[in-house]
Amino acid sequence: MFSGKTILLTAGPTYEAIDPVRFIGNHSTGKMGFALAECFASQGAQVQLIAGPTNQQTKHENITVTAVTSADEMYAAAKQLAPAADVLVFAAAVADYKLKSVSAKKIKKSGNELTIELVKNVDIAAELGKVKKPGQFSVGFALETDNETENAQTKLRKKNFDMIVLNSLNDSGAGFKHDTNKITILEENATTAFDLKQKSEVAQDIVNLIWKRLHA
Ligand code: CTP
Ligand code: CA
Repeated sequence: MFSGKTILLTAGPTYEAIDPVRFIGNHSTGKMGFALAECFASQGAQVQLIAGPTNQQTKHENITVTAVTSADEMYAAAKQLAPAADVLVFAAAVADYKLKSVSAKKIKKSGNELTIELVKNVDIAAELGKVKKPGQFSVGFALETDNETENAQTKLRKKNFDMIVLNSLNDSGAGFKHDTNKITILEENATTAFDLKQKSEVAQDIVNLIWKRLHA
C-alpha cells in the first residue's frame, strides 16, 4: 500500500542531561512508534525512524533507525530527513525543557535543596510544521488528562498537523507501560474514536486512516 513512500517517524522519550551521570526523562517506551514503523514497513514504505532511548528493536529491512538522546539531537536528525518524507509522524514524547546549562562534572550532594534551571526545548513538530511542503502529510500525538479534545484540537492547528492521535490517560489500559491503547483521531473536519486494542492493532488503525486520506 505504501510502496514508494517515505515515512519519517519520531519515537520514544528524550533524555536531557543534568550532568555526566544524570538526566531528565519520561516514561515513554517507544512501543507505539516502533509498532507504527513496523506497520508502515510491512506495507512497503521506507521508514526513517528517529528514536530516543528505548529497548525496542526492529529487524525490518525497510526501517532505518537513527538513535538519538536529546530533543536537540532528535530535531537535528528530523530536520535533515524531513524534506524527503511523504508522511511525518511525531510519536516521540519529547521533553519540553532541557537544562539551561549542563554541568560538565557530576554534581556533588551539598545543601538540603537543589535548584536546576530549565529552558524550553525546540518543538520539533511545530518547526517542521512551518516548513511542511505541499503534499506532505503530518500526524501528531497528544496525551492529555483533561480538556482532551480541545487541547488536541489546538495542537492540530498550532503545529499544522493533518491529524492528531489523542490518547487519554483517563482510559484505563491506555498509555505508558501498557501494551494496549485507546485512541481518538482528530482532523479538521472529522473525529474517529477507536476501541481499546493492542498497540500493534492501534498502529494498523492509524496507518489505515492515513492511507485513506492520502488517497481521498
Ligand atoms: N512535540 C515535538 N517536540 C516537542 C514537543 C512536542 O515534536 N518539543 C510533538 C510530539 O511528538 C507530539 C506533539 O508535538 O506529536 C504534541 O506533543 P505534546 O507534548 O502533547 O504537546 P506540547 O506542545 O508539548 O504541549 P503540552 O506538553 O504542554 O501539552
Ligand atoms: Ca509536551
